[in-house]
Amino acid sequence: MTAPALRVLAVASEAYPLVKTGGLADVVGALPAALAAAGVETRTLLPGYPAVLKALAGAAPVNAWPAFFGGAARLLAGRAGALDLFALDAPHLYDRPGNPYIGPDGADWPDNALRFAALARAGADVARGALAAWRPDVVHAHDWQAALLPAYLRYGPTPAPRSVVTVHNLAFQGQFPRALLASLGLPEASFAIDGVEYYGAIGFLKAGLQLADAITTVSPTYALEIQGPEAGMGLDGLLRTRSGALHGILNGVDVDVWNPQTDRRIAATYAPRAMRRRVQNRTALQRRLRLEEDDGALLIGVVSRLSWQKGLDLLLECLPTLFEEGAQLALLGAGDADLESAYRSAASSHPGRVGLFIGYDEDLAHLVQAGADALLVPSRFEPCGLTQLCALRYGAVPIVARVGGLADTIVDANEMALAAGVATGVQFAPGSAARLSDALRRAAALHCDRAVWSRLQTNGMNADVSWTRPARRYVEIYRRLARNEPLT
Ligand code: ADP
Ligand code: GLC
Repeated sequence: MTAPALRVLAVASEAYPLVKTGGLADVVGALPAALAAAGVETRTLLPGYPAVLKALAGAAPVNAWPAFFGGAARLLAGRAGALDLFALDAPHLYDRPGNPYIGPDGADWPDNALRFAALARAGADVARGALAAWRPDVVHAHDWQAALLPAYLRYGPTPAPRSVVTVHNLAFQGQFPRALLASLGLPEASFAIDGVEYYGAIGFLKAGLQLADAITTVSPTYALEIQGPEAGMGLDGLLRTRSGALHGILNGVDVDVWNPQTDRRIAATYAPRAMRRRVQNRTALQRRLRLEEDDGALLIGVVSRLSWQKGLDLLLECLPTLFEEGAQLALLGAGDADLESAYRSAASSHPGRVGLFIGYDEDLAHLVQAGADALLVPSRFEPCGLTQLCALRYGAVPIVARVGGLADTIVDANEMALAAGVATGVQFAPGSAARLSDALRRAAALHCDRAVWSRLQTNGMNADVSWTRPARRYVEIYRRLARNEPLT
């Protein structure tokens, strides 16, 4: 007999393809389908941003709050693509164009505490049975924007289902002034070391990590790293205390969205056994970014937010090495103004060698993966990283810093791994331009040996980067929570 479907309410601030600023959206958008295959029914609660409401046009309201964090709110339910969604329709909080977190002046929206507390609170209400027709067995909150949810469960009426919080990036914690406590609807008693208090302020992520029944993060290595002071970013002590409830589960990618055999966004589809067609994407990428159409050059791609985390300042220092090796750079990215302008000037000083698109472009992200020989991810820290997984699937050999999920997903082409035929890329020690330069030289040398390089590509393309295995790990956690079993 098959086990009855488990109901999970996922709560997040973005989901591909509706709203995306990074990998969080990819995860929230893709995990439900893999969970469904493993017997879990997921409904995903998102803020009712314009794009979300548009996707749910005509959907029926299933709940209403006349006064909710400063205005009236409704809950809409419907299906968009592969996702069963709830949207929190609260125009006073979410009816704003563009980026979900920042306003037109480039600063965080001043009411972000209320905007995301409302999301968590709506999730807690659904969790506690606000909808007669659907009540979850477990609640899954993603990142700081949803992490106040366990606090609403803890400081509200019982019974409430058990909760899991997933940390996608500990660098974003959601800290807000203590004075907001009452407007968030939290009692005075919650402002305590074992509650929402965090260095004298209200810590959304801290609250989630403190009060969730289970914590997951997106790779086993990051799960260890964040229990130390360097990657722990102030929360390592708490995470050590909760290590029994903390699990590192690697991300996967949506293998239908990222499939070189069917991808309509690239110039030519290809399969691991028919790689000759791949070169058409290489040429298309070179043309698109005005790179020299040079067949021999090692074409290195980057698809990234431009931020300190991603280590792309280090790559600027390594450009001389890259040119010495005869390589080219194809960079797609957006973010810090300083990095954007530094790359713009690198591109204008090295026409034909540095190709650039500053901005966000989903189609081009696919073409970079399909056309570049290698994909570079030089992060200082990386909870999981998804672009190296896409690169494996597309036969772009990943060159990655040995940190977080990058360390867990790429097998370095050292002598042993090459001899055993299991290597998939190049790893180097993070945070140093010298080590990055060494890695670029090593990649260029490997690239000169066509047999070795194509073995790296094939190994990568045969690696399992799907959600199938990770989804089973989440299901195991959900089941234990639903049955009130211990997590370790
Ligand atoms: P993070 O979430 O830290 O930014 P990830 O590697 O987990 O890093 O996920 C990044 C996601 O965003 C990937 O799907 C990647 O393809 C995409 N991405 C990043 N920058 C861009 C860009 N400039 N244009 C298009 N897609 C991008
Ligand atoms: C975060 C992390 C990234 C991870 C993504 C999805 O944005 O920076 O490493 O892959 O979340 O979990």
